[in-house]
Amino acid sequence: MTSSQAPEGPAAKATNIVWHHSTVTRAARAHQRGHRSAILWFTGLSGAGKSTLANAVNSALFEQGLACYVLDGDNVRHGLCGDLGFSDADREENIRRIGEVAKLFLDAGVVVLTAFVSPFRDDRRRARALVEAVDFIEIHCAADLAVCEGRDTKGLYAKARAGEIKEFTGISSPYEEPEHPELRIDTGCQSLEDSVAQVLAYLTAQGVVPGAAPSALPSPA
Ligand code: ADX
Repeated sequence: MTSSQAPEGPAAKATNIVWHHSTVTRAARAHQRGHRSAILWFTGLSGAGKSTLANAVNSALFEQGLACYVLDGDNVRHGLCGDLGFSDADREENIRRIGEVAKLFLDAGVVVLTAFVSPFRDDRRRARALVEAVDFIEIHCAADLAVCEGRDTKGLYAKARAGEIKEFTGISSPYEEPEHPELRIDTGCQSLEDSVAQVLAYLTAQGVVPGAAPSALPSPA
């Protein structure tokens, strides 16, 4: 974004606003903390294990001293997105807001893990397009509908089958699987431990978790 541009997109109502550049850059934060930031975008059906996996990865990163934070669908819908339901348009707005918030976390030097159904490819594509390609890691929690419905940890699938919840993802609203996610994890069969290891191995190879690729750390501006 150049210095005089107003935000684009559905909420572009603000005019006469000027982008203010921070004197503390993202690169400086990365050097101070010893790791770069990234967006880990977990997507999948309700009950696929997005929150569980994101929280377990978050704990592992925290133990290693990284700045990290989970943005979780159910939690964010209590506040920031409490005005949104589950129509296609509301989901689009939900994911638009989360994409923007995740971008702020990225700038703040934090590894941010987002756990949202985010069922629509276009919405995920727009979130990805907000940042550099290297900063967005899409992680498909690929558990079959039958497995998620069998778990039904929140009892929502039963309610959706009974018609008590409209537009429920997988039942009466579509889930568009990622075609080329950076990671696809079989959260239907694989153990949580193995799934965490799969994510951490990828993050280490990408130089997000320090150790394997020190050149991945940007130089301070
Ligand atoms: S998203 O589609 O906009 O990305 P989000 O991840 O924020 O959804 O919220 C999904 C969570 O809300 C689910 O885990 C589930 O607990 C709850 N939920 C309630 N109603 C629905 C619905 N109609 N479809 C999907 N999830 C729902």
